[in-house]
Amino acid sequence: MTRVLTTARDFRQALAESLAKLPAPADPSETPLVSLVPTMGALHSGHAALLDSARASGDIVVASIFVNPLQFDDDADYQHYPRSLEQDAELMSAHGVDLIFAPDLQEMYPGYPEGPLVRVTAGELGRKWEGGFRPGHFDGVATVVTKLFTIMSPPAPARFEAWFGEKDAEQLAVIRRMVGDLNLPVGIRAVPIVRDENGLALSSRNQRLSAQNYDDALHLSRALFTLADRAREGQPLDVQGLREQLKATPGVGLDYLVVVDPLNLQELIPGDRVLTSSGVLQCADGDGAPQGMLDAVRRDAPEALALIAARVGPVRLIDNMELRATASAT
Ligand code: PAF
Repeated sequence: MTRVLTTARDFRQALAESLAKLPAPADPSETPLVSLVPTMGALHSGHAALLDSARASGDIVVASIFVNPLQFDDDADYQHYPRSLEQDAELMSAHGVDLIFAPDLQEMYPGYPEGPLVRVTAGELGRKWEGGFRPGHFDGVATVVTKLFTIMSPPAPARFEAWFGEKDAEQLAVIRRMVGDLNLPVGIRAVPIVRDENGLALSSRNQRLSAQNYDDALHLSRALFTLADRAREGQPLDVQGLREQLKATPGVGLDYLVVVDPLNLQELIPGDRVLTSSGVLQCADGDGAPQGMLDAVRRDAPEALALIAARVGPVRLIDNMELRATASAT
């Protein structure tokens, strides 16, 4: 049965009890795995995919529900963020979560808004793209995620992994970097974006789109699919042309459309370039790519990631897509 805990102390006690109840492994060198899914609630099928992945690998699945004020640069957005604790807890329970940590604001940040005084900064990574439009957002994410990792991690020798959605690609890059830079003892796992039947990436914010806003929002994923097709076919990406089209689209307030290195979020393709499967980015007119770009292409990561953000009706939407070239594109 799923238990909901509202204090860090009760959560840690419940986690220790759950670990103690696990059957002894056949091989004593096998250590149990605790899988965490951190959320801000308002769950949708994208979260369900995270919970299912966590359940498939973890011996114990823990999840958090906390709307973190530190990551909202706009108070109205924080106030309007959908809150549905009971429904969320039911969905988590149906997807096999063992323990839910659902603290209130004072439990997470005693004395808020004066605290917390000491925070984690995402540094330069936190000021790019989304971070540029939402100052402090990634510092707020880094701070709350560090706290959740600390509160929700199991005692040794159990292992600990946390699951995040690729929908928030920049958040994922920040968290991966933070875990490496700060030696946090947690493995980071990611699940692909879940899209609806028309291609719109699922987001808790979609609840606030009118029918017209919804149609307008589809332009975002269409632009990404166009870039992915062009990369695959070895055509010039023409990011600038797509930007101009989107800027001229009524109902869409484009903030950015860029092609970046997925790990450091550096812009890869400022102009009209072709992405090739050998990992070389060439100008369409045959110029070689600047040296820095070559370093950014890695075998085990997608060659490039297209990021988009736009205001549609009352909400700001973000989406992204991996760009991969085929062998014939070289
Ligand atoms: O992705 C989210 O829902 C939030 O940014 C997270 C990771 C739960 C931190 O508040």
